[in-house]
Amino acid sequence: MKRRIVTRHPVTLLWSLRSLCPLACDYCYFGLVADHQIAPPTKAGQLSHISRNDMNRKEVLAFARTLAGSAVGRVFLAGGEPLAWPGVLDVIQVIKAAGIEVVACTNGLPLAKAEIQDALFDLGVDAISVSLDSTDPAVNDARRPDRFGRGTWHAAVDGIRAVIAQRAAGPAPRVGIYSVLTRRTIDDMPAMGRLTADLGCDYYVPQPITLADDHKLHAELSLRPDDEPRLRAAFDALYREHPELVLPASTYPQQVLDTLPRTTSPVATCFGGHTLHFIQPDGAIWDCVSPYRIDATAPAARRSIRGASAADLFPAPTGHAPGCPLFSHECVNMWPLMDFDRVTEPSGSPR
Ligand SMILES: C[S@@+](CC[C@H](N)C(=O)[O-])C[C@H]1O[C@@H](n2cnc3c(N)ncnc32)[C@H](O)[C@@H]1O
Repeated sequence: MKRRIVTRHPVTLLWSLRSLCPLACDYCYFGLVADHQIAPPTKAGQLSHISRNDMNRKEVLAFARTLAGSAVGRVFLAGGEPLAWPGVLDVIQVIKAAGIEVVACTNGLPLAKAEIQDALFDLGVDAISVSLDSTDPAVNDARRPDRFGRGTWHAAVDGIRAVIAQRAAGPAPRVGIYSVLTRRTIDDMPAMGRLTADLGCDYYVPQPITLADDHKLHAELSLRPDDEPRLRAAFDALYREHPELVLPASTYPQQVLDTLPRTTSPVATCFGGHTLHFIQPDGAIWDCVSPYRIDATAPAARRSIRGASAADLFPAPTGHAPGCPLFSHECVNMWPLMDFDRVTEPSGSPR
């Protein structure tokens, strides 16, 4: 028997709901507020924590209400920090009422607030993905401070512990950790698996850092071909030592290694624009998060969720997913998202 999400609701949305975030991660896709105060981004698809174009609550809810009956089966809510936005619980309520899975992608800090945590349980959020980059608080906090330069590791771990405690022996929500994988954190990967398991979490995803060639941290943090032996050893140890965790598919480590030359290469089939769509806080829709793919989108093909309906924008795709010539380090971390049934249905049982 085939799984429901594959047969009737095959579309996944990665919805970057809000631009604002109380953290100031120096590698963030959204850039740094200080940099953008001097030079605001101007290119289509570029993100900023100080964007003035985020959809308002009414517009967001209006689109969310159109999801019912559409081909969308799962929504990842990210940002910015989605759980720091007061409107998020209404959005989750509407999506869950439509029978669609919700995964909250968070820096973990809001989870310590009882009202947020209780609401996520009451609304039936399916999974919570918390970002944490290292077993060493100092290493994490050097990259993921709050806007006042204070460390966030302990608050994120407290948030995870609070959710795990409230869940007790219950099946949901699934809870996992996402780490940004840089040249500096490769060797910590198996220990991050241990920490993830010790905290009682269900899944762990190391996601390669994506920085433009001219980013000031590129030389220090981006993965390079000569990192391959350390990456292989770390992935091998992670998968060998942590069968208790749901990890990305066994093909993922090689996919990450394939992106080390920082070139683009073809993939025979890709879900981007077929069963995956990326939505930005201003409502813009792209096939995938990759700047290569965004740049390749003709202006006439650009779309928005503002005032539109999910059924019109994201019909159930027909035929096979087409190939893409632009596979790279910019998109490889979409594969674990698109394989998320491994997390929500760990036994592989049909829904
Ligand atoms: C942009 S955040 C938004 C959700 C939430 N605020 C959080 O901290 O998880 C989503 C994920 O992207 C990761 N991320 C941010 N910038 C990245 C980059 N340049 N390369 C790879 N991952 C990045 C974050 O660490 C986090 O796991």
